[in-house]
Amino acid sequence: MLNWDDPLESIQRKKKAAPAAKTYFEPVAADREAAGAVEGEKRLIGGSDLTANIAPIKYHWAWDAYIKSQRNFWLPTEIGMGEDLMALGRLNEHERHTFFTTFATLTTADALHQRNLALAVYERITAPEVGMAVIAQMHQETIHSMSYQHIIESLNFDEDEIYLLYQRVPQIRAKFEYSNARTRALQGQGGDLGEYVQGLFFYYMVFEGIWFMANFCPIFSMQRRRLMVRTGEQLQYIARDESGHVAFGRALIHALWQEHPETRLDEAAAHRLIAEAMELEQAYAEYAVRPMLGYDLDMHLRHVRYLANRRLLDMGFNPLYGEQEAECLPWWEEQIGFRKEKNFFETRVTEYQTGGALSWD
Ligand SMILES: [Fe+2]
Ligand SMILES: [Fe+2]
Repeated sequence: MLNWDDPLESIQRKKKAAPAAKTYFEPVAADREAAGAVEGEKRLIGGSDLTANIAPIKYHWAWDAYIKSQRNFWLPTEIGMGEDLMALGRLNEHERHTFFTTFATLTTADALHQRNLALAVYERITAPEVGMAVIAQMHQETIHSMSYQHIIESLNFDEDEIYLLYQRVPQIRAKFEYSNARTRALQGQGGDLGEYVQGLFFYYMVFEGIWFMANFCPIFSMQRRRLMVRTGEQLQYIARDESGHVAFGRALIHALWQEHPETRLDEAAAHRLIAEAMELEQAYAEYAVRPMLGYDLDMHLRHVRYLANRRLLDMGFNPLYGEQEAECLPWWEEQIGFRKEKNFFETRVTEYQTGGALSWD
């Protein structure tokens, strides 16, 4: 009952009963114990509670990733979409289906990235420069979502049809369900560290490094034929960001394996994971990728196997698919900005950086 002589009394009483507030930078106690952290020592996970100290920087790869992401800032609304609106009417039935399906899959995948990063990856990291790189990645993912919304509105697409396509197409849903199962271990601070690192492996190497990267390609092939060039241009910026995320993820996992050797994935487990992901990708691509001039299902799957081999090699494993899986898309690296000597269609992707720094790779 309210005390009219002292109306704030009941509120103060409740306040007193509340548990003591946590310190802002308190790492997970179990993580600290497992890591055997020494007071004042910076660790990726379970480090000292002095986690606000950026300097001295211990994880230079993370600081570099953070700085690069700041330099690569871009805004989708700077790209006019008029040309694509005209081109949309010129697409044949196969091109339209492939564009719509791959674009819709990208939109949902990027939204998932934001949730995974915010709820899962960041939560457990105690080294500030690594946390900053993850936050910078989150910010880039929001720009990607902004880009999709810009494209949807410019092309008069139905938002629900795009964002919720995965609910109607089982092959897309299967990929996202698998992803959720694989990254569940990332969520919740007290989870098993080995599963956390495996979740990171799936998230950075498979979800971003294979599925997501490959999904740009059907639209890139159209862009190279002067179709949907403005969408393609935005996807180039996104792909540039994503290749930075994959490089960051690779360094993060290697560093975690070094600090926590017991979390190292063995080659058989890595191969199993890649094989499962490839099965899902094949089913998805059989639905999504229709034959088009300069691109078809066979090329798509060969490129996906090439990416899978590359990710495995990056992580110190043997490739799974044999040497015949050479890159079948000669324009791929140039498209995502690795090679700067050629600059097709006046795209500004490779030049558009703040801070006057052009070399980022
Ligand atoms: Fe993204
Ligand atoms: Fe990403």
